[in-house]
Amino acid sequence: MCGIVGYVGKRNAEDVIIEGLSKLEYRGYDSAGIAINQNKDTIAYAKKKGRLSILENFLKEMPLLGQVGIGHTRWATHGEPSDCNSHPHLNENGTIAVVHNGIIENYMEIKEMLIAEGYTFKSETDTEVIVHLLDKYYKGDLIEAVYTTIKQLRGAYALGVVAVNHPDELVAVRKESPLIVGLGDEEFFIASDVPAILKYTRKVYFLENGEVVHIKDHTIKVYDENKNKVDKEVKTIDWDIEAASKSGYDYFMLKEIYDQPQAIKDTLLRRLDKNRIIRLDDIRMTKEQLEDVGKVYIVACGTAYNAGLVGKYAIEKLAQIPVEVDIASEFRYSDPFIDEKTLLIVVSQSGETADTLAAMKLAKSKGARVLAITNVVGSSVAREATDVFYTWAGPEIAVASTKAYTAQLVAFYMIALDFALKRTTISSDKYNELIDKIESLSELVAQILDGKEAIRSIVKDIKDTKSAFYLGRGLDYMTAQEAALKLKEISYIYTEAFAAGELKHGTIALIEKGTPVFCVVTQDNLAEKMISNIKEVKARGAFVIAIAKSSNLEISKVADDTIYIPEADDLLMPILSTVPTQLVAYYASLERGNDVDKPRNLAKSVTVE
Ligand code: AGP
Repeated sequence: MCGIVGYVGKRNAEDVIIEGLSKLEYRGYDSAGIAINQNKDTIAYAKKKGRLSILENFLKEMPLLGQVGIGHTRWATHGEPSDCNSHPHLNENGTIAVVHNGIIENYMEIKEMLIAEGYTFKSETDTEVIVHLLDKYYKGDLIEAVYTTIKQLRGAYALGVVAVNHPDELVAVRKESPLIVGLGDEEFFIASDVPAILKYTRKVYFLENGEVVHIKDHTIKVYDENKNKVDKEVKTIDWDIEAASKSGYDYFMLKEIYDQPQAIKDTLLRRLDKNRIIRLDDIRMTKEQLEDVGKVYIVACGTAYNAGLVGKYAIEKLAQIPVEVDIASEFRYSDPFIDEKTLLIVVSQSGETADTLAAMKLAKSKGARVLAITNVVGSSVAREATDVFYTWAGPEIAVASTKAYTAQLVAFYMIALDFALKRTTISSDKYNELIDKIESLSELVAQILDGKEAIRSIVKDIKDTKSAFYLGRGLDYMTAQEAALKLKEISYIYTEAFAAGELKHGTIALIEKGTPVFCVVTQDNLAEKMISNIKEVKARGAFVIAIAKSSNLEISKVADDTIYIPEADDLLMPILSTVPTQLVAYYASLERGNDVDKPRNLAKSVTVE
């Protein structure tokens, strides 16, 4: 997804912007560009297709000196990745420059209107209409031109704007796309995400939809969409920049897999009071309100959706409330049954996923209560929700979600236990037992990580396969789905997850001699059934790798290889069974020479539909 960085201050803006953009690389991009206001007749700019390093090398030869500027990493939506389609975009005489994250839905009609008025377009992007509109409406007051322009736009946009006639000014806008402001000492930053500015300041404004920022004469003013001045609260970021760097690991993904014991602890322990009762401070649902809930949906995308599958299981089992889980992009167009008695639980690591946001807005508009599970404080999802559960997993940079997933599972277990207590569907003994067991997960995950070399050697044997499968039953099928997504996402091995009982209804036809089949076997009541399924696929030539509880000695007699994991309550096993599958995906990607953290065609945060 596109990344924006802007700067106004005393430093060399090019350095600040390039450094900031490098911290946004995790969002995924295909080109990068920069525009600097040098107090000349036109804005100086450079933009290059490809990695940020290409732009950096170009700038080494032709530096753009100046103290006010905007930069951008682009993830193509309208028009192929190319120098020309990269941002910034400038008006015809080069006096105004714009960077944009999001999609302008009505750009075709605006473009036709502008062409009819004599404007010519250089790029295929939707963004270019913005800069021509600014040109059209600019009458000496930049902020007025911005307001008039955004009135014409439909869609999602975070914008950064500079103009030659305003050498120490920067205007920024946020509407449905993330944008924050960093506050330094007589210097200001705009950025799509916090890591871009952490080197310079920890003080930020989280912008709301429709807010317009005007940086001028070493001061900053924020206005709402009706041009009323807004008094923003300064938030202090308390996580360290180290937390957003690799800390010595080769890849962010590996670091984040290793962050999990801490992430699990942080997400759980900070919410247990001295009597070990869960305190969900940002969830204000009373017992009565919970009793009044008629329907619960869990809605999310990708890995967050897979967490929701486990969440459904936990809430239904512990709190005895029926739950439906849906993919956000399906839910929003399915005319779902929603009323004032509906509770919608949305899950989103980034808190900025467009479909998830749209689903929650739809539910809110029909009167539903929305509970968000998110990892990003101040994110759009968090701000739109009635109740919020923050997973305290720390920033997740690798495109493949790992620690966010296990932290989301902890969140669901805690929410399910909290609901169960309120609905008196759990005994205090069972409650205490489960809290103890959740607490011990952190240590058990660390033990699994100690066995990473054995997993690596299993992966070496199967790394050249064209396809692979994951099988499971019950909660193990949920793990299988997340495991398959992870493996295909970063290794590019075609991988599917199947409910093991479905094999003979068609899918077993896919098994050939040597096909790797990972079988997740952690549910005691289903273990025997899984052994039969393992025999079935082995009889068709599959190479079976089982992931099983350490007590299950039968498994190693039937599987070709077994990854043993420690024991926990069956309900909690998805946290443990997922960890080896993350390592399988990581090593498969590594062995196949892929870019582990930035898999092809993917972006960390999907902020467009
Ligand atoms: C996970 O590995 C993915 N990259 C992806 O499925 C992700 O979980 C999905 O895009 C949802 O993102 P979110 O949690 O930030 O909403």
